[in-house]
Amino acid sequence: MLEQIEFTTKSIREKTNNANPQVGIILGTGLGGLVKEIAVEFTLPYGEIPNFPVSTVQGHSGKLIFGELGGKKVVAMQGRFHFYEGYTMQQITFPVRVMKALGVKTLIVSNASGGMNPNFEVGELMIINDHINLFPTNPLIGKNIESLGPRFPDMSESYKKEYIALAKTIAKENNIKVSEGVYAGLTGPCFETPAEYRYFWRMGADVVGMSTVPEVIVAKHAGMDCFGISIVTDLGVEGKVQTVSHEEVQQIAKEQEPKMSLIVRELVKRI
Ligand code: HPA
Repeated sequence: MLEQIEFTTKSIREKTNNANPQVGIILGTGLGGLVKEIAVEFTLPYGEIPNFPVSTVQGHSGKLIFGELGGKKVVAMQGRFHFYEGYTMQQITFPVRVMKALGVKTLIVSNASGGMNPNFEVGELMIINDHINLFPTNPLIGKNIESLGPRFPDMSESYKKEYIALAKTIAKENNIKVSEGVYAGLTGPCFETPAEYRYFWRMGADVVGMSTVPEVIVAKHAGMDCFGISIVTDLGVEGKVQTVSHEEVQQIAKEQEPKMSLIVRELVKRI
């Protein structure tokens, strides 16, 4: 894996005039519009990046974008990789390893989720303050490479408290309603049954989704600070579970995107 990371990093450096981003951003379902806020310097389609998987889901366009946001050098993944697409955990999280090798210290992740917390509404913005790994595996399984991180990484503050406080301040200043809560990550691709939503809520999760957890685990292994924000696109609240489609998820995410983009842009500026 080390050789692959080095080779990919070298190739990206060559194509981006030695890009040295400080912040990495993973743009989730329907949230790719944050790219409009980035002063783009280089765009690399995943297909042109050696060792990068190619995204297969509609709505995830698959490019690595280098540029400036809020006065900082950033790299953004427009389109992420999901376990349900058939990739391994190592493939899904490979871009995070490359970001780290390029110099990224902070990882910002966004996603769409289903909300179980009965106080949540469709379109709710939730700052992720912790997660529960419900994937049947973990990206760190296998021989540990000490130069990438420790065998038993600490996960006691996976989402940096300072960033959460900062994001809440930014939301308040801009009259944006945000909540805070726990994200449970699982494989998908089915949406959940009512019994599963009830189970995850009772277990301690506020929302559920099909991403983010693998990337944050690897980012923490690599010693990065993380911030996560989720758009609740549908509800799995007991008695209120309705049918849900990928199109609806994308539509709701798109409607809420400007608010999320503002929070992320301001956060990048202030960290
Ligand atoms: N479950 C899982 N992932 C999701 C959901 C959901 O209900 N909504 C948006 N992404």
